[in-house]
Amino acid sequence: MKSASILSRKNSILIELQQVRQNTLDLLAEIDRSLFSTQAHPDFSPIGWHFGHIAFTEAYWILEHLANISPSFKKYHRLFAADGLPKKERENLPDILTIQKYLNVIRIKVLKYLESAPIDKQERLWRWLIQHESQHCETITFLWQLHQQRQNQTSLVNFNHLSSSSSPDNSTFEDMVIVEAGEFILGSDAIEAQDNERPAHKIHLDTYWIDRFPVTCKQYRQFMAMGGYQKVEYWSSAGWQWLQQNPVSQPLYWVDSQDWDDHPVYGISYYEAEAYAKFAHKRLPTEAEWEKSALGASLKCNHSRLVGHTTPVNAYSDTSKHGCQDMLGNVWEWTSSWFYGYPDFANYPYPGYSKVYFDGEHKVLKGGSFATGSLRTSFRNWYHPHVRQILAGFRCVKD
Ligand code: AVJ
Ligand code: FE
Repeated sequence: MKSASILSRKNSILIELQQVRQNTLDLLAEIDRSLFSTQAHPDFSPIGWHFGHIAFTEAYWILEHLANISPSFKKYHRLFAADGLPKKERENLPDILTIQKYLNVIRIKVLKYLESAPIDKQERLWRWLIQHESQHCETITFLWQLHQQRQNQTSLVNFNHLSSSSSPDNSTFEDMVIVEAGEFILGSDAIEAQDNERPAHKIHLDTYWIDRFPVTCKQYRQFMAMGGYQKVEYWSSAGWQWLQQNPVSQPLYWVDSQDWDDHPVYGISYYEAEAYAKFAHKRLPTEAEWEKSALGASLKCNHSRLVGHTTPVNAYSDTSKHGCQDMLGNVWEWTSSWFYGYPDFANYPYPGYSKVYFDGEHKVLKGGSFATGSLRTSFRNWYHPHVRQILAGFRCVKD
């Protein structure tokens, strides 16, 4: 029995490795050669760097760390390690074909090793690695979208299949659902859970109301029309300070068309989400409030670039146990929580994965986007509150 279950776990790892890699190679084929090595934004590495970093990370953790094979491609260590060169010095990259070969050569060795690997002792690291690649694919996706937008080539959408499935009278998406006071389990101890999701632990929350849907473009347009970006009273002091230094008047990926009315707004910083919430006489959820509301959320959602852009917030009709829709996929959702470790946090596989970001400067995001490959309600993403390039929107709560 034991060997059978090890075999099937090995098989599922193999399948997932290959699925994620197919996505990586699809992306690689899409990327314009001329933009491969260019930073889309100073906060992010060039797209090409991410592909090399995927291969480097796989070689480092599987071949060197698990298989004890001595390092190959030594010249790539400094270039593709996360703690190697500063982001602005990552533009001097090998060409696409060379990086593609690097990915392939490492992968062939890794699959060879997987055949005899003691997976019962290693499963967590393999699951971590699969998600690592998938996370970098999401970053590549939004950097590519950013480049395309910059070039004004955004040919993102065929609207025929985007129409909202609701009747017109509830297309305002103003509904809120109640989540009664009580205990629930925050976090996860599942094998695929990241260090920052562990350990699962019981917490108590008071009663609150939460939006059934993420905030839509139509709702957000209202905020803009009411002087949202001009009136100081909607903004926190940190938010207003950010706005003065970064004078924007609409979301980064904003398209001024009613065709997008029922889609979630995204391409906004935490500060913009917070300002909207104040405008709406609501607030942003804590990460625990978000996660409790999402219990039982369905994986039938907009993810893994299957659609390639946002969908209307009611495009998928499954609800969470508490009645929320669109919790997973479509767009990430900002929460009001700063990113910190749970009680008894233990870093894995290295302190730099999560722990160095427990600095009181990163906000937690929940849910996942149309480009996210692996979804669960316990997953915690984290970014500085000023970041707008990620595929993030929000929903609000009320006491
Ligand atoms: C979880 C998306 C914030 O890409 O910065 C990838 C994941 N960490 N390699 C990131 C990560 C190391 C991380 N995020
Ligand atoms: Fe990484």
